[in-house]
Amino acid sequence: MSTNSVRVLVLTCSTRPGALGPAVGTWVLDALGPHAAHLGVELVPVALGDLELPFLDEEEHPSAGVYHREHTRRWSAIVDAADGIIAVTPEYNYGMPATLKNALDYLGREWAWKPIGFVSYGNTSAGTRAVQHAKQVVTTLRLVPLGATVAIRIGEALVDGRLRPDPSRDAAARGLLDELVGVAQALRPMRERTRPDTVPGPLPGSYALRLTPHDAAEVTVLQRCCWLDEAVANDTLAIPALQESPEAVRGWLTTWHTTGLRLDGRLVGLVRTRRIGDDWHVGRLAVAPDVRGRGVGRWLLDHAEAAADPDCRRITLTTGAKSVRNLAMYRRAGYLPTPVADTPGTTDLVKETAAR
Ligand SMILES: Cc1cc2nc3c(=O)[nH]c(=O)nc-3n(C[C@H](O)[C@H](O)[C@H](O)COP(=O)(O)O)c2cc1C
Repeated sequence: MSTNSVRVLVLTCSTRPGALGPAVGTWVLDALGPHAAHLGVELVPVALGDLELPFLDEEEHPSAGVYHREHTRRWSAIVDAADGIIAVTPEYNYGMPATLKNALDYLGREWAWKPIGFVSYGNTSAGTRAVQHAKQVVTTLRLVPLGATVAIRIGEALVDGRLRPDPSRDAAARGLLDELVGVAQALRPMRERTRPDTVPGPLPGSYALRLTPHDAAEVTVLQRCCWLDEAVANDTLAIPALQESPEAVRGWLTTWHTTGLRLDGRLVGLVRTRRIGDDWHVGRLAVAPDVRGRGVGRWLLDHAEAAADPDCRRITLTTGAKSVRNLAMYRRAGYLPTPVADTPGTTDLVKETAAR
């Protein structure tokens, strides 16, 4: 099981009364249920027919992301929350159904850098021509079509309107999910970079975004790595950032606003902020050892300060009393040590914000 859970839309594309699509969609969910649980994958069934999407009726080009219709906003939120898509699609006249093309056309950024796998069905071609048709369209949207596929020839697969059990088809579906999860994880940095709340970071190719409890494992690793130097400098292991479990980190990620800096898909920096009374607290400023000395710490500090509530009168932070490098950086940034620290062995620093 992955530390980053993957959410997969299982999209039933046919909408006509009496369609076979829902039965195929049900088989996909049944066949993949245990394997998905094993992989930490959440399968989200969506029937295009339930979305009540008319033919595209938005004025703006979808790449603008300006949606005037409630049905578009709903559809956008569903796709935005997904890491990958399994399209359960019939073949209509050698192509994909118009419902799928229409649903694709509605959105832009929401599709980008997500894998899409196809479970197709049809007569002699088993829906494979619909898949070929869809593949050339989805790449325009930066969806990434998988090589793994499940193609069902209706005449051989149906018994009493349901799909006859077929272990090799089940195995093909599991193979498709395996490939989809691998590609979804590999593309995660590409997806994060396109999110509207992501900002470019200080290093070429780096970007910053808000971390969530999903990031607890990586935050735990970065903390332990970074605060080792603090332990040596201050001759103590009694440092919360060194001791915290992933569960404890998950807990504070819900209550602090935490910014992470990513480079090449890796978490290389972080800082957390929170208002307490009239003060803006900055903490857990961490920079991975291999990117130190390149302005990352100062950039994270500036970023944390810029987020302060305008009426906060002071910015406060704490570091080890013997953390010489940190103390020098904070002094350069305008922080002054307070006479008495709350915790022995640490130094509290304050920056008045009246001049901001
Ligand atoms: C409008 C339409 C066009 C079709 N075109 C094809 C086709 O090109 N190739 C094929 O193998 N089957 C074709 N079929 C047969 C479908 O594969 C079959 O009816 C299937 O059940 C359709 O999926 P649905 O029941 O989920 O709508 C077509 C069916 C319809 C309704």
